[in-house]
Amino acid sequence: MINRRNALTLGAVGGAALALPTESLMNLAFGPTWTVDPFTRALPIPQALRPSATRIDADIYRLTVGEGTAEIVPGVRTRVLTYNGQFPGPTILAQQGRTAKVVVTNSLPSTTALHLHGGNVPAESDGHPMAVIEPGRSRTYTYPNLQRAGTLWYHDHAHHMEAENVYRGLSGVYLIEDARPTHRLPSGAHDIPLLLRDADISRDGELHWQVFGQAGRSLVLVNGAAQPRLAVRRRRYRLRLVNGANERTFKLRLSNGAEFVQVGSDGGLLPRPVRRGEITLWPAERVDVVVDFSGSADGTQIVLENVDGESDATRRILRFDVTGGHEFDPSSIPSTLAAAPTVRTPTVTRRVELSFDALAGTFLINGKSYDPNRIDFTVKRGSTELWEIVNLDTQFEIPHSMHLHQIQFRVLDRDGVPAAEWEAYPKDTVAVPPGTTVRILATFDSPYTGIYPFHCHFIDHSSLAMMAQIKIVP
Ligand code: C2O
Ligand code: CU
Repeated sequence: MINRRNALTLGAVGGAALALPTESLMNLAFGPTWTVDPFTRALPIPQALRPSATRIDADIYRLTVGEGTAEIVPGVRTRVLTYNGQFPGPTILAQQGRTAKVVVTNSLPSTTALHLHGGNVPAESDGHPMAVIEPGRSRTYTYPNLQRAGTLWYHDHAHHMEAENVYRGLSGVYLIEDARPTHRLPSGAHDIPLLLRDADISRDGELHWQVFGQAGRSLVLVNGAAQPRLAVRRRRYRLRLVNGANERTFKLRLSNGAEFVQVGSDGGLLPRPVRRGEITLWPAERVDVVVDFSGSADGTQIVLENVDGESDATRRILRFDVTGGHEFDPSSIPSTLAAAPTVRTPTVTRRVELSFDALAGTFLINGKSYDPNRIDFTVKRGSTELWEIVNLDTQFEIPHSMHLHQIQFRVLDRDGVPAAEWEAYPKDTVAVPPGTTVRILATFDSPYTGIYPFHCHFIDHSSLAMMAQIKIVP
């Protein structure tokens, strides 16, 4: 059963309310929000995409981008955009060291581009905003998977359209699986991707889109469903948390006070596991955790809570129902997970200033809005650079989640405070709260050259030109 109610969710917007168009403010005050009977529906697990062919040199996958429907709230068909008819898209399970070729066919009336977020890929397969697939056409993306195993995700990146396209459904999880795992972390059915995002479903069951419409996005979806539940056995599970929301930051904890053991971050496993009671996940960040349910009796219900949620639907986002008793659990969490990165001395230091031009309503990087014909930074392949990313905005207090394509970087410090172990490496997206300075160390050690974007992953901001580009030269 579905209830509707009016909710004033101004708190969710914070300072950014000042930057909202009037329509949005009206919605904020008077718009309807849906609520769902919580935890009535099983968590959907996106299907794993089977290769359409397996060749000696590559696995071939096919994705068709098109319109479709999804049951986001029980009993209601909502029109969405899909990969292969699925919302969110199917999970791609790539093998480390095996090339994946993804053939994308565009059945939409508008353009699309596919980006593998966190992927170390040749420039022509990066899904550059201008390298779009026209309606009715196909394009093949080559992903070498010669990087650390980890939790990546794929999503639309068409110029100025990415925010709406991702919001409407164009995202999915992409896992690179260890070729020869040196660990026995929970796997198979006990390794579960949780793609989190929010959504605004309007009175007529439509997915309502509006740039900066975050205040109306009153439902949190886990793998495309609002407030689902997952039956778990008394054993360990690996959960791949992916923040696929346009604008929402999640602050997660377990209602029984149990700890998460974080084993990985954006680009793969951490050097060592880290115990955390609460996990903050900014847009596009990933955190890979192990949760142990073996100490919970059958019948226990444990809610994955988003502490900052402004309503029940955004606060209690998923429930684990412990059931079926103990299960033999061969998994373990080793004390060493991955090699620590080699620290190299930077040869170039850059200052990257983030700001908001209130008069023009645009976001700026070093005073400029995105121009796909401009190269902002020329970077020498193989070099190490120190970037000082400064969020200058203290007036509107707009946060930014900055993402660099192509490599995994180290986060050194934030306002001089050294990055915590769980945030230090490997990262491709970093939180830059208003008024703060974050320093990252980036080694461009991949074999590829060419143009790659660097942008904010509050993806409405990137659609509104908060993007720059680097050119990697030999
Ligand atoms: Cu996840 Cu350029 O993006
Ligand atoms: Cu931003």
